[in-house]
Amino acid sequence: MGPIGIFDSGFGGLSIFREIQHLLPQYDYIFLGDNGRAPYGDRSFQEVFDFTNQAVRRLFEMGCPLVILACNTASAKALRNIQQNELPKMDDPTRRVLGVIRPTVERVANLTYSGHIGLVATRATVSSRSYDMELAKQHVDGVPVVLTSRACPKWVPLIESGELDSADLYREVYSDLSALLDADPEIDTIILGCTHYPLITSLIQRVLQELDHPEIILMPQGKPVSYSLKDYLQRHPEMEARLSKRARVEYFTTGDVAQFEQLATLFLGHKQHIRAGNIEW
Ligand code: DGL
Repeated sequence: MGPIGIFDSGFGGLSIFREIQHLLPQYDYIFLGDNGRAPYGDRSFQEVFDFTNQAVRRLFEMGCPLVILACNTASAKALRNIQQNELPKMDDPTRRVLGVIRPTVERVANLTYSGHIGLVATRATVSSRSYDMELAKQHVDGVPVVLTSRACPKWVPLIESGELDSADLYREVYSDLSALLDADPEIDTIILGCTHYPLITSLIQRVLQELDHPEIILMPQGKPVSYSLKDYLQRHPEMEARLSKRARVEYFTTGDVAQFEQLATLFLGHKQHIRAGNIEW
């Protein structure tokens, strides 16, 4: 029996973890943020794969039978390869890794009325075209949905440094969202396709209001991912039986522990200061 592993390149996965823990509080969790090597968004395909694979293996060694890649960049660049080529080679090939893209896409097609969807994400996620491929299977009133993507490479480094409401971040968000809406003015739903972005939801909403689009629905991933995990565990009782249930959470970072503890406490909205451990590769 072991905990559920939650992996992200940095702090963003906490926005997913918060929802998972809220919906499924009975399980034990280990959260691992690779803050020491974040951001992943501008890294090569090989680097994102190698780093993610290393993190998944570490979480398996720490006893997790199941790992969630709470990171779009890792899900886009590494998930399929790990599922198809790495897991079968491992000493215990029954462990599992799940990502965040498919649960998001399955939900977003039910939210849009216009059938025009926007995606904001890292460069790596946008260039992987993972969302385009998954969304190609979705229709609204029999018509395939239209996806317009915008890579926002400046957002994550600013969020990682704790600048959730700075003038620099405001300028970047304004310029990227206006470019996205110029490219397709019919967009009525925007996927926050990077787990860091829900941390700045109020800033994004303010910018959409200033751009005269307050009606646009923002689609964060925490809820679809957590409900999809719940559904997965109902369909896979053999995995559910392997999960320990003492409602315990451990946090680890490959970066600066004090900074992680401070920002994670803020991002999770906890009253009590969270404690984290350090992991070295
Ligand atoms: N959290 C990651 C994501 O969802 C990316 C942030 C990064 O660039 O490391 O895409």
